[in-house]
Amino acid sequence: MTATADIMQRYRQVMFPAAAPYHGDSPLIAERAKDQYIWDIEGKRYLDFFGGILTVSVGHCNEEITERAITQLQKLQHTSTIYVNESMVQLAETVARLAPGRLQKCFFTNSGTEANETAALAARMYTGSPTIISLRHAYSGRSLLAMSLTAHGNWRLGGVVDPYIKHVRSPYTFRAPAGLSAEQLVELCAQDLEETIATTTQGKIAAFMAEPIQGVGGFIVPPADYFRRILPIVRAAGGLFIADEVQTGWGRTGDKWCGIEHWGVEPDIMTFAKGMGNGSPIGCTIATAEVADAVNGLTFSTFGGNPVTMATTLATLDYMQAQDTPGNCARQGAHLAEKLAEFAAEFPSIGEARGMGLMQALEFVQPGGIEPDAARATAFVDTCKEMGLLLGKGGLYGNVARIAPHLNVAAADMESALDIIASALAEIS
Ligand SMILES: Cc1ncc(COP(=O)(O)O)c(C=O)c1O
Repeated sequence: MTATADIMQRYRQVMFPAAAPYHGDSPLIAERAKDQYIWDIEGKRYLDFFGGILTVSVGHCNEEITERAITQLQKLQHTSTIYVNESMVQLAETVARLAPGRLQKCFFTNSGTEANETAALAARMYTGSPTIISLRHAYSGRSLLAMSLTAHGNWRLGGVVDPYIKHVRSPYTFRAPAGLSAEQLVELCAQDLEETIATTTQGKIAAFMAEPIQGVGGFIVPPADYFRRILPIVRAAGGLFIADEVQTGWGRTGDKWCGIEHWGVEPDIMTFAKGMGNGSPIGCTIATAEVADAVNGLTFSTFGGNPVTMATTLATLDYMQAQDTPGNCARQGAHLAEKLAEFAAEFPSIGEARGMGLMQALEFVQPGGIEPDAARATAFVDTCKEMGLLLGKGGLYGNVARIAPHLNVAAADMESALDIIASALAEIS
C-alpha cells in the first residue's frame, strides 16, 4: 500500500466525508510547499495555481511573512479582544487606507463566513430591517446564515434557512435566457430585484450582498454596468451594499486593490478573508463609521485580532504593496486570458473562457451547446494534476475549471502552466 493509500484509509475512518478532497482516487496529500510549488508525500512536485482556494496569495512559506509571524509568535501570541495589540490597529489602518470610499472601521474574525456574518449583523442593526438580498450562484460560507446567503443547492446543508434572505437573478451572461444581450440581462436582473423587493418584503431591506465576481460560482464576471444599475434600487429600499471581497480582494482582479472598484460603486460594508493573510486564518469586515457604530451591543471573537494573525496579515499586505500585486495580476492575467480565449476557440468542449486578472475560468459544456459537462471539467483538472499543475473546480454544475495562481506569479511559471493546460486539453478532448 502506498503512503497515500494508507493515510486516505485512516482519513476515512476519522474525518467527516462531507469534506471531500479533490482528485477522486488520487488525492494529493501535501507534505511541504515553497513559493509556487507544493510537494506531496510521494515526493511529486506541483505548480500551484489554486493556492489553497485563492488563499496562499503571495507564495507558500513566503520568507518575509513567515519571519514576521515567527517574531510575533515569540513575543505575544494571544490576548482575545479584551486587550488591544498594536498590530490590530495597524492592520485596521492599512485596510482602511487600501479599501475604497468611506470604509473606515474593522472587525476581525477568523474566516470569510464570520466576516459575512458580521457584515449581515451590522446591516441589520444599522437599518432595523432583517431582509438581505443575495445573488443566485453566490457562495458566502458555511454557518447557517452564510449557507442561507449561498445559492448553490449543493452547499446548503441541513435544511434550515434564514427566512429573511431572498435570492435574485445573477448577472451570469453565459447562462442568460437565450438571445438576451448583456444589456438586456442587466435589465432583467434589475426587474427581478424590484419584483423581489415588492413581492417578498414591505419595501425595506437591510442590504444587498454580492461578490464583485462570483468565485465558487465559477468566476462569473458581471456586465460592466450591472452594479451601477442595481444599486439605486437597493438604496431606494433603504438597503446597504455589502461587497464580499473574500476571493476578489488584494489585487486579484488586476489594477485595483478591490474587485468592486472596477464597477464604479461604493460599498457600505466590505468583507475579506482568504488571501489577505497568505494562509493565516483571518476574516475582516470593514464598514463606514456610521454603520460600524450602529453595532452598539456587545460582541467579541476570541481569536479575532489575534496578534500572530494580525502580524502575519500586516506582513502580507506590506509584501503585496511592495510587489504591486494589482499590477502583476493585470499583466499576467491579460496574458492568461488571451491564451484561454485561444483554447476556447480551438476546443468545442469549452463553452466560455472568462475572468479578470488572475481569476480566470474555463466553463466546460457538451460540444455545440451549453449543457454543462462536469465530467470533462473533472477530467481536465485531474489531468492537469497528473501533469504537475494544481487548478480548482467550481460552478453550480461543477463544470468550471478555476485558474487562480499566486498574485505575484512569475511569467515563467505562467508559461509552464499554459503548456500543461494545452496538453491536458488535448488529452481530454
Ligand atoms: C466569496 C466567498 N465568501 C465567503 C466565503 C467563506 O469563507 P470561509 O471558507 O473562510 O468561511 C468564501 C469561501 O470560499 C467565498 O468564496
